[in-house]
Amino acid sequence: MCPVKALIASRRNRKPFVTNILSSGPTPKRFAPLGPLRGTIRVPGDKSISHRSLMFGALAVGETKVSGLLEGHDVIATADALRAMGATIDRTGEGEWSIHGVGVGGLLQPKQALDMGNSGTSTRLLMGLIASHGITASFVGDASLSARPMGRVIEPLSQMGASFTSSPGGTLPLMMTGSLPAVPITYRLPVASAQVKSAVLLAGLNTPGITTVIEPVPTRDHSERMLKGFGAELTVVEVDEERHISIHGDAELSPQTITVPGDPSSAAFFIVAALITEGSDLLIENVGLNATRAGLITVLQQMGGDIELVNQREVGGEPVADLRVKHSRLTGIEVDPAIAPSMIDEFPVLFVAASLAKGRTTTSGLDELRVKESDRLAAMAAALKASGAIVEELEDGLIIEGSDGTPLRGTKDEAIITHLDHRIAMSMAVAGLASKSGVEVDDTRPIATSFPTFEELLRKASS
Ligand code: S3P
Repeated sequence: MCPVKALIASRRNRKPFVTNILSSGPTPKRFAPLGPLRGTIRVPGDKSISHRSLMFGALAVGETKVSGLLEGHDVIATADALRAMGATIDRTGEGEWSIHGVGVGGLLQPKQALDMGNSGTSTRLLMGLIASHGITASFVGDASLSARPMGRVIEPLSQMGASFTSSPGGTLPLMMTGSLPAVPITYRLPVASAQVKSAVLLAGLNTPGITTVIEPVPTRDHSERMLKGFGAELTVVEVDEERHISIHGDAELSPQTITVPGDPSSAAFFIVAALITEGSDLLIENVGLNATRAGLITVLQQMGGDIELVNQREVGGEPVADLRVKHSRLTGIEVDPAIAPSMIDEFPVLFVAASLAKGRTTTSGLDELRVKESDRLAAMAAALKASGAIVEELEDGLIIEGSDGTPLRGTKDEAIITHLDHRIAMSMAVAGLASKSGVEVDDTRPIATSFPTFEELLRKASS
């Protein structure tokens, strides 16, 4: 290709989506029964792995190639921020991306505020990256993100030498200045959070010495797996049932070719939809089944869900399978709180499954759900009650009396308030499939943060 054409092509590929999903008004929608879900679908790439592919690629010297990248707004926000700090990131095809990194320690001062949109993962992990660079950056986000606590990353990153001016309550907008050199720390996670763990490890990449995170409760381990794959010196040892994850600083990352597996958190909506919709028999291909992410499948199987793992294999260093899901009569259970970190994003849709199960489902130990894109315990309790389910909200969980397969009534005059939370919108869309009159959702725009093809796949599976 001639240089001018190549330049035009790369410009065209640069910004395929607008980061700000809120530039237009709310998009309400009624989700009504569509009939059985059948056939074969494939969900988009894993969000956590997509963010990390871009970030680690941006720190490697040379070209990292990614296929199956999730092209949702959250991931695009990460790409835009990394470009603003010097990385060259191009879309070369559908889900195909090329990243030319700046090298560890090579991030440049961004000239404008970094707009994180709705994405907590982008914000917290990038704060970690910047913490050990001698640059200043400001972070802004939408109303949902601006209400979320950043103190959990500010605390360890301050110990490493970074300084922060946040909005009251440790929220966005905030400005931070990294420390060069940063100070290595040993940090025991006070909350089970892969984002906090990853922020400290990423700061440790450009910090002399060894930075250690102690994880009393295991959380998703994509950062550890991928950092090793990129050539970082990272060790994980178990001491007294806690994971000690240590990263050697002044690291050099070498570029990789990455295939992103399908996102189990997106597959979750279709798994539950198929389980609760009579006549369903759906094959969901290429679903990531890392043990730190697969808790929902275990819980649904304990409830009697017919979920078969077919063609188990490895994709991009992650366990993957195709899931064959059939309509099932579910029974309520007491969900073991110890499983929560491995299905932390799947509780909203589990609550929908529980609403259709026979008997009572009890959940506890879910305080973290109150600080996600919305307060997911309050939002789901209100949403399910408004749709006719019997729900009691506790401080750290929900108790749900299931309908034993009888469709929920559906919403009456008022739409479900989703609080700019994609997973509330998609969960209640699934509830609508198993309702008499349908469920009206106030705003479907946030779905595009993580699962832009959700409605298209719903139509495909139901046709
Ligand atoms: C994520 C970690 C989880 C999860 C989020 C993605 C990640 O957050 O809820 O959607 O990619 O590291 P926490 O670390 O706050 O639990």
